[in-house]
Amino acid sequence: MDESRGTIAAQGAMTVSGTMTASVPAGGFYVFEGIDGSGKSTIARAFADRLASTGQRVERTAEPTATWLGEQVRRGNREARSDFTETFLYIADRAEHSALIAEWLKDGRSVVCDRYVGSTLAYQSVTLRHHLGYRALEWLKMVNEPVLVRPDVTVLLRIDPEVAIGRLSGRAEREKFEQVEFLRKVAAMYDRLATEDPSYVVVDASAPPEEVLERVWGSMGKR
Ligand code: TYD
Repeated sequence: MDESRGTIAAQGAMTVSGTMTASVPAGGFYVFEGIDGSGKSTIARAFADRLASTGQRVERTAEPTATWLGEQVRRGNREARSDFTETFLYIADRAEHSALIAEWLKDGRSVVCDRYVGSTLAYQSVTLRHHLGYRALEWLKMVNEPVLVRPDVTVLLRIDPEVAIGRLSGRAEREKFEQVEFLRKVAAMYDRLATEDPSYVVVDASAPPEEVLERVWGSMGKR
């Protein structure tokens, strides 16, 4: 969507005085990814708050979105017969969302997004493997490409799927993607994405949230 993006982080956030404090550039697009139970939503919220406390204008957002398209995604998760239906719904939701994100960024705001294209590449490459084999990832990259804003930083919160499932077991209802064998495959796919995509930073998410946030914040200066 916008080929010129992806340069802000590369221009260099700086680590200040050898502490875990980093300066995070304004107007950046920061995405948080990870398996269910990785604590991603908590950390994304805390990161956005911290960014705002430095005086930046920040939009915090998430996928599936809280729009009519996000509603259809959730409905598709429950009702769709074909794995392709939910895939296309995630991508339709993203197409609208990306247009909004592009507007926010153009206006100079920073955007903190809880799940984005990495979720489709990681989760749907597993669900579509039955149909497309190992071509699934390449196919998903191709279909997503025209509807993307390139993230400046994608934080992958890495956690053992068993630990993640343990965290989720406190929740009333376990969603269909929250099964350990499935999450293992998704986690492996995320690891692969992190090695292939230079926007990724990988942070160990097994520590308490305050510590994970410090690690995320600190990692911004080391890219
Ligand atoms: P989640 O972040 O858990 O949303 P909520 O907090 O509203 O439940 O996301 C819901 C599920 O959707 C999660 O299991 C991951 C899955 N998902 C995909 O499979 N592909 C995608 O592209 C996205 C955005 C989410």
